[in-house]
Amino acid sequence: MRLTIFGSGYVGLVTGACFAEAGNNVLCVDIDQHKVDMLNSGKSPIFEPGLEALLQKNLAAKRISFTTDAAAGVKHGLFQFIAVGTPPDEDGSADLKYVLAVAESIGKEMQEYRIVVTKSTVPVGTADKVRAKIETTLSARGARFEFDVVSNPEFLKEGAAIGDFMKPDRIVVGTDNPRTGELLKALYDPFTRNHGRMILMDVRSSELTKYAANAMLATKISFMNELANLAERVGADIENVRLGIGSDPRIGYHFIYPGCGYGGSCFPKDVQALARSASDYSFDAEVLKAVESVNKRQKHLLFDKISKYFDGKLAGKTIALWGLAFKPNTDDMREAPSRELMESLWAAGANVRAYDPVASHETGRIYSGRKDLVLVEHALDALTGADALAIVTEWQEFRSPDFEQIKSTLREPVIFDGRNLYDPAFVKQFGLSYYAIGRGDSVAARPVERRRRASDR
Ligand SMILES: NC(=O)c1ccc[n+]([C@@H]2O[C@H](COP(=O)([O-])OP(=O)(O)OC[C@H]3O[C@@H](n4cnc5c(N)ncnc54)[C@H](O)[C@@H]3O)[C@@H](O)[C@H]2O)c1
Repeated sequence: MRLTIFGSGYVGLVTGACFAEAGNNVLCVDIDQHKVDMLNSGKSPIFEPGLEALLQKNLAAKRISFTTDAAAGVKHGLFQFIAVGTPPDEDGSADLKYVLAVAESIGKEMQEYRIVVTKSTVPVGTADKVRAKIETTLSARGARFEFDVVSNPEFLKEGAAIGDFMKPDRIVVGTDNPRTGELLKALYDPFTRNHGRMILMDVRSSELTKYAANAMLATKISFMNELANLAERVGADIENVRLGIGSDPRIGYHFIYPGCGYGGSCFPKDVQALARSASDYSFDAEVLKAVESVNKRQKHLLFDKISKYFDGKLAGKTIALWGLAFKPNTDDMREAPSRELMESLWAAGANVRAYDPVASHETGRIYSGRKDLVLVEHALDALTGADALAIVTEWQEFRSPDFEQIKSTLREPVIFDGRNLYDPAFVKQFGLSYYAIGRGDSVAARPVERRRRASDR
């Protein structure tokens, strides 16, 4: 089938490459000329395992290409996918200007029947806005063509996006037109061969389903972080609690890892946008607001622990950071907890030496020219001249480090672990102090202990 995808970011590019891999003829449209040139030369602008190889294979087979020409895009595909960004507006609601700009292009250029498929995460009612925008643009031209607007939210996870797209848990399609539903079914058939995974519903329920999924996952994380903070105060170990509750199949082990907060391009903005949508309907979404505020507090926790450990005297100190990306296997730095930590450390006068297997380049781009940030190429290099180590992203390579070397290199033998990667008793055997999240070792008590020990001497 011939398809056009507007937006060549995480979602658009993965969608395009995977549909091309299934044998479709895909034209991707983006407004960023540099990105389009890179993609046509076979280079992926983002780090996503397997994506670049898939891109190159399908470019060579001439099943995918990239352009900035919206008119060519509208002409190309029966399916017109919208996969552009929906960033938060100033009031927290989803900003639909990119989505509606695509709708306008479609209305301007359409010459025959088109199926407009919204893959971007958009608030309930957006399909109506897309339809209205296309209709007014068509009538401004004095043209009349039939078209359908379908909601098809995307559930892929960055870092595992190709696998998620190729073998989806479910494909949600919202449409009021059964014939369009059948066409979408045919398009997705190669990805659902062993059993049907398409869930057809009305458009509004489909739009809400995406927000509901992300809000539920964010809620699990914030709930666990809330309990971790309590565990720290009452002398319990949240990791034991996690195992104790995860074994209940009604709860499950997924998304109950305590840590230094969630980030990324989706959870923070989607929870916020859903709460905002609720208030537009005069409904106070209390759980959603709590999920967001617990996360904001959690993203500050590592800094608070470090600051308390050093009695608030961070000026001139150097903190080594392991992990910058908002989660492993991506170079995405949007809303990453590392940013909150680095910015707080800098505001307190500290320097940062940071290592990430793939996100250093993106970090250097965001914070270019900062003298208080050094990006290094190996994890152990980050420790040189550092007063403490903070772990922010749970990359696999941080799971079994050389603790003796960490101890001998750091000026002060202390690890602040925002991802609970290690067994506290094991780390302490190496003479390292170890502060994790919710593991009974409240740093609040720590400066007092240190002062007491200093006066004992
Ligand atoms: N990133 C994820 O993991 C993920 C997962 C599921 C859903 N989503 C949702 O999918 C949507 C896209 O997210 P993303 O992370 O891929 O965004 P992104 O910022 O990585 O990419 C968006 C792309 O759209 C392009 N663009 C903007 N306006 C355009 C226009 N008028 N025509 C063509 N291209 C245009 C931008 O240049 C950019 O390349 C968002 O609504 C997001 O919430 C994202």
